[in-house]
Amino acid sequence: MGRARHVFAINRLLSMLLSHLHACRTEWEQGENPKGDFPVVAALVYYYCLPFASWGGSGSGSGSGSGQGGELESARLERLMNSDAGKTSSLRSNSSFDWSKVRFKYPPGQLRRPPTGRPVSLPQVQHHFPPESPAAAKIRNARRQQVRELFRKNWKSYRKYAWRKDALQPLSAEYKDQFSGWAATLVDSLDTLWIMGLRAEFDEAVAAVADIDFGTSSSVSVNMFEVNIRYLGGLLAAFDLSGRDVLLRKAVELGDLLYAGYNTKNRMPVDFISFEAAKTGEGLMVEGSVVSASPGTLSLEMTHLSQVTGDPKYYDAVSRLMDVFEKGQAWTKIPGLWPIYVSMQTQDVVNGSYFSIGGGADSLYEYLPKMYALLGGLEPRYGAMSKDFIDAANRTFFFRPMLPGEEDVLMIGPARVEDDGTVLMDSESEHLGCFVGGIYGLAGRLFRRRDWVDDLGSKLTHGCIYAYRAMPTGIMPERYNMAACGSRGRCPWDRARFDAEAAKQQGLWSSHLPLGFTTARDPRYLLRPEAIESVFVMYRITGRREFQDAAWDMFASVSKGTATKYANAAVLDVTRAEYPLPQEDYMESFWLAETLKYFYLIFSPPDLISLDDYVLNTEAHPFRRPKGLKRSRPL
Ligand SMILES: *[C@@H]1O[C@H](CO)[C@@H](O)[C@H](O)[C@H]1NC(C)=O
Ligand SMILES: *[C@@H]1O[C@H](CO)[C@@H](O)[C@H](O)[C@H]1NC(C)=O
Ligand SMILES: *[C@@H]1O[C@H](CO)[C@@H](O)[C@H](O)[C@H]1NC(C)=O
Repeated sequence: MGRARHVFAINRLLSMLLSHLHACRTEWEQGENPKGDFPVVAALVYYYCLPFASWGGSGSGSGSGSGQGGELESARLERLMNSDAGKTSSLRSNSSFDWSKVRFKYPPGQLRRPPTGRPVSLPQVQHHFPPESPAAAKIRNARRQQVRELFRKNWKSYRKYAWRKDALQPLSAEYKDQFSGWAATLVDSLDTLWIMGLRAEFDEAVAAVADIDFGTSSSVSVNMFEVNIRYLGGLLAAFDLSGRDVLLRKAVELGDLLYAGYNTKNRMPVDFISFEAAKTGEGLMVEGSVVSASPGTLSLEMTHLSQVTGDPKYYDAVSRLMDVFEKGQAWTKIPGLWPIYVSMQTQDVVNGSYFSIGGGADSLYEYLPKMYALLGGLEPRYGAMSKDFIDAANRTFFFRPMLPGEEDVLMIGPARVEDDGTVLMDSESEHLGCFVGGIYGLAGRLFRRRDWVDDLGSKLTHGCIYAYRAMPTGIMPERYNMAACGSRGRCPWDRARFDAEAAKQQGLWSSHLPLGFTTARDPRYLLRPEAIESVFVMYRITGRREFQDAAWDMFASVSKGTATKYANAAVLDVTRAEYPLPQEDYMESFWLAETLKYFYLIFSPPDLISLDDYVLNTEAHPFRRPKGLKRSRPL
């Protein structure tokens, strides 16, 4: 704003120079420049450009700290990845069926629209990062480069052995289609390619997206939840970042397919769409019982689809679904929380007795503060639902484990309500629960609750860091038990009590487990992201270096234990450091979509996918948040 015209011309010229420079540097870093003359050129160009280079960025409100000659990383990528992208606009979708033409037996009636009006000025989420020292930048960049190299190795193998398939099998170099055969890994990885600045790979993948046929499916039924978070989330985020219109066209096609899942008598979504039946429009039958995370994790993507298309029907569908959760929240056996099993057929989300914030329920909770942010704070009910579950979850699921070093951390376990109303907590923790620390951090910022960040978010995240570090492989098991302390205050180590708790575990305790763990009930590591997710979020929120260092330890351990000739594989037992670790021929798309993206982002300048600009779906796909006029100061 307010910049003179003639500066604009210089600006363009320097932009081109810088982007050329970046291209040579990237090649040089990747060892693909045989001449090896990059350092000399770089020194010259940087010398001449630096005094002018600071106007490059669009403000992200999240501080500088780019460590890249003053230019914001987000601006650099915008130029590198999005300039001259016109050639993809000719890509046409090629699906054999038009989902927008299905005539519904159960149409929606009067449509609700997303709230309009100026977004509320929500508090700043990210830490204000001060400029970084050259020494710190050097370490950070070296780490980030290693993450990028590992991603590129994986991508090359996917491209060579599993192109357009749902998943690469990392030991056999074969492939698998388990999510309807629409190239799940490819779609899930689009935004990671963009974020890592892999332009040629990104363009090639976008062209492949145009060829996906959402009119056929490799399975007779389509999993609403997985297709929504991986494919629709992946397409929308890649569209937000790159603006390639073919991505939006495919998102709409897929959105219309998923929308057919609401063609039911009560307009509640099915869990699995019978693919051919859905095409007829005759109406689908809602299942009797589903895990709450299934219907509870549809709102963010459908809402964003309405935001970017202006068509309210997607938002309307999930808004009515969320009414059911809102109405039931105060009437369950643990008010504030919902049981793991719910019925969309009877719209019953109150009757069950089993509760968890881990697998089965997790992202139902995760999406409430995220909906609040995505809607610019204009739908207060998502704020109210968030606050209610956050208090109830703290009272119900969290415990301080008894540890030999008496570390003050929190772990998470499920709960059950007895017939007389007694709530029993079970001290069984799982990797899936590790996202919770990050959610307390994010919500703590959005709702101005410092204690949610500093006390709960930090201790929960440190609980997962502890479980990684304690294992001889440096990797946390999928599922394990610890002995819970009666209080969160003092928790002295008591060997006799530990032995008694271990003995209660019916043979699941073993002497090789680190002291403090009474079981490693499921000793595998499935390439999951939840721990690094919270570490990343807490780092961006607090700016504390301890989180970056923990991330590096995790990356070193995980990349070592899971490495295969072609990519990375799930490992069968992380409790014994006998390398090579036993592995499984299995690599979920979330390894590339989430785990490696979070590792990359925590070592990137903090303006890249700033949490003040984006909210990430449960598959780590960033959706652009609406902007208020200016950020309000903390109270
Ligand atoms: C359309 O899809 C078919 C496969 O279904 C593919 O062979 C063809 O190349 C596609 N054409 C275009 C123009 O994308
Ligand atoms: C509530 O659950 C019990 C079993 O846990 C079941 O017998 C009962 O029918 C359920 N009630 C409703 C209204 O679904
Ligand atoms: C969380 O729960 C504990 C134990 O019930 C309580 O002492 C603490 O004040 C709660 N923290 C917050 C932030 O609500």
